[in-house]
Amino acid sequence: MPITAAELSAFGRLDAGAALLRPWQASDAPQLPTLVGDWRVARWLIAVPFPYVESDARFWIRHSGQLRAAGDALGWAIVRKGGDALLGGIELRLGAEGRAELGYWMGLPYQRRGYMRAAVIAALDVATRLGRQAEATVDPLNAASRALLFDAGFVLRGQRMVRTRDGREIIHDFLEKDR
Ligand SMILES: CC(C)(COP(=O)(O)OP(=O)(O)OC[C@H]1O[C@@H](n2cnc3c(N)ncnc32)[C@H](O)[C@@H]1OP(=O)(O)O)[C@@H](O)C(=O)NCCC(=O)NCCS
Repeated sequence: MPITAAELSAFGRLDAGAALLRPWQASDAPQLPTLVGDWRVARWLIAVPFPYVESDARFWIRHSGQLRAAGDALGWAIVRKGGDALLGGIELRLGAEGRAELGYWMGLPYQRRGYMRAAVIAALDVATRLGRQAEATVDPLNAASRALLFDAGFVLRGQRMVRTRDGREIIHDFLEKDR
């Protein structure tokens, strides 16, 4: 059965330890280019434009709101509790057949502080509550993300072809959350 917007609205703001997950808002746009637009972050994200400018951020924020309203995806900004400083982003893409594809990035200055582990746990809890099988694809060379996924209970199921921002097809590892 399709998920209604009212049901999804229960997943607007989520507690994630020292961070909070909340829907993207227009005021996030100026912060996005320096965070997700840093090549050391962007290089691992197949769908994120590069170079990344503020109009890309405004488009993304609008688009994420539309996907949420349609019940197609839940995208959250990860912000520091108390200050609302933007740290990173995380999304559950709600595909067909009861699947939920996890994607995420953390701004370079905030990496390796446990923020994403907490955000992933919160997002996976949403997938479970929606009765969805969580999955992810990751570049086999992306040691940080692979370690995080295995740490969160994902298991390797095989490989998939994925299309990059510039239209190339590359091989990613395909993982599912064990349950
Ligand atoms: C992957 C990424 C989101 C991790 O974010 P983070 O906030 O630094 O992650 P955390 O601090 O919560 O780390 C959780 C665990 O992930 C693993 N990890 C994170 N960074 C790592 C690194 N550089 N090398 C190896 N393992 C790493 C570790 O197991 C870590 O636990 P530990 O610190 O107790 O050893 C971040 O490196 C990033 O944004 N990378 C670029 C974008 C990207 O790869 N997105 C995913 C595409 S599939």
